[in-house]
Amino acid sequence: MAGNRTFTMIKPDAVKAGHIGAILEKINAAGFRIVAMKMTQLTKQKAGEFYAVHKERPFYGELVEFMSSGPIVAAILEKDNAVADFRELIGATNPAEAKPGTIRALYAKSVGENAIHGSDSDENAAIECAFHFAGTETF
Ligand code: RTP
Ligand code: MG
Repeated sequence: MAGNRTFTMIKPDAVKAGHIGAILEKINAAGFRIVAMKMTQLTKQKAGEFYAVHKERPFYGELVEFMSSGPIVAAILEKDNAVADFRELIGATNPAEAKPGTIRALYAKSVGENAIHGSDSDENAAIECAFHFAGTETF
């Protein structure tokens, strides 16, 4: 089951720019089922915990500031091969390198403000889903 789920966040830049609807449309069109979803704002503490794996990287401070700078839309998505297929749909971290038609190619502004998050493994997907959603919020 865990292998069929991934976790995503529409990041503050894309929410601010009014892209929630267009991004959800692409997610639906690609065959993902929305299992859980909420609009929320991360505290610096929560953003820091979420990206703790990058703590030693030079961009960590900026990343935490950005991810807590405004509301996000968090969601759990279900589909066969969800993690890999969703990474394909969102495109490369740097939008300049993202394939045409991917969410980051369409909506990301820069490597730092890149519109959307997608889990990078089944193991991290399970951790990230549990970090944001209780079982009673998952359908
Ligand atoms: P994400 O976790 O948000 O889905 O992004 P990702 O897997 O494609 O990239 P990752 O290596 O996990 O990096 C996490 C986020 O950190 C920001 N970043 N900034 N300034 C930089 O060089 C830099 N590198 C990474 C990005 O917002 C990236 O999505
Ligand atoms: Mg990542």
